[in-house]
Amino acid sequence: MHLFGLTDDPSVGTMSRPWTLAVARDDLRQTTIAAGDPPQLSDGEVLLRVARVGLTANNVTYAVLGEAMRYWEFFPPEPRGLSRRWGLPPLWGFADVAASAVSEVPVGLRVYGYLPPASHLVVRPARVDGSGFRDASTHRANLPTPYNAYRSTSGDPVYRADQEDLLVLFRPLFYTAFMLADQLTDNDFYGAGQLVFSSASSKTAYAAALQLHGRGPRVVALTSPGNVAFTRSLGCYDEVLPYADAGDLAVLPTVYLDLSGAPATRATLRERLADQLIRDIAVGLTTQVSNAATAGEVFFAPVQIRKRRLEWGNDGLEQRFAEAWRHFTVAVLPRLEVHTEDGPDALRQAWQEVLAGRTPAHVGRVVTM
Ligand SMILES: NC(=O)c1ccc[n+]([C@@H]2O[C@H](COP(=O)([O-])OP(=O)(O)OC[C@H]3O[C@@H](n4cnc5c(N)ncnc54)[C@H](OP(=O)(O)O)[C@@H]3O)[C@@H](O)[C@H]2O)c1
Repeated sequence: MHLFGLTDDPSVGTMSRPWTLAVARDDLRQTTIAAGDPPQLSDGEVLLRVARVGLTANNVTYAVLGEAMRYWEFFPPEPRGLSRRWGLPPLWGFADVAASAVSEVPVGLRVYGYLPPASHLVVRPARVDGSGFRDASTHRANLPTPYNAYRSTSGDPVYRADQEDLLVLFRPLFYTAFMLADQLTDNDFYGAGQLVFSSASSKTAYAAALQLHGRGPRVVALTSPGNVAFTRSLGCYDEVLPYADAGDLAVLPTVYLDLSGAPATRATLRERLADQLIRDIAVGLTTQVSNAATAGEVFFAPVQIRKRRLEWGNDGLEQRFAEAWRHFTVAVLPRLEVHTEDGPDALRQAWQEVLAGRTPAHVGRVVTM
């Protein structure tokens, strides 16, 4: 097998001893760090050196839904010398091609995509073009396709080298928020006069609220007492209430966008709003309690993405996303404090803090690997 440019160039990541952080599938607080040997590449494979990743509640949700939604299957533990007791929660971030057995994917190419909590990942690029490639590894063939795409920084209209941390932290969250806001607008807000977000201080919630504020319905935030001041400071909610005051919500036709999953909040809204609660949509579960069965419906971005691809074309959708992203970055930059740490222990620490909800809402946690 011929390797195209296997390198020790530190600018593209070294062949230093690979490591993996894994969490116990049945107790997400238990972690282990495993060291391994450099992976051997076969024909058609590429070795990615993971460079920087972000950690938010969304990554914890991947782990909470690891079995149900098959998130554990993206990065199996066994090739890394770990038993199936352990799982690798997927993260989003940047990686560099450190070795390549695919001539179209050169060493040094930097890509954005779905990555393991580990120093390295072997992928099998397919459909390679200027915008990147897809991982066609057998174990990922039947998993949701958006997670298998790796975007090259050179072919990405929203990439800016000085905004990598924003992409690491927000890209998938903002994409969801963009499609959620679009779906609500596209359906005339289902006739609602009020949109209520739980976990309104989360990045996904306020990214959506920023796009919905001033478009018609009142946009109302429910959040923890400690996050009320931050959520107010965002300026994208007409009203901000601590969870304990959810029973004081105005009684008018309401769409509930549930990102917390807390059963008590849902019960309060149902009691207070009764038939004025016209849609109850599960978007997330920051409290780590599944709400898929208790909400009226689950938001599934691919449905709206498919609709808009048909109406606007792929380029039209990408162009609108890029425009919304540029507006968003201007709004979010002054409000975000990025904390960057380095290495496996820092990643473990960041996991524990995000899992326990100890990361302040104005902070984004980035780890260099
Ligand atoms: N459906 C989709 O396609 C999709 C896409 C993206 C994200 N999401 C979901 O949206 C949710 C928010 O994700 P994010 O990454 O935007 O979150 P984030 O910015 O990390 O959210 C932080 C906020 O979540 C709440 N929180 C965090 N940890 C908690 C804990 N341990 N217990 C209770 N509350 C906690 C707190 O908000 P409050 O004090 O305001 O409650 C906190 O300020 C996640 O569940 C994520 O999976 C869904």
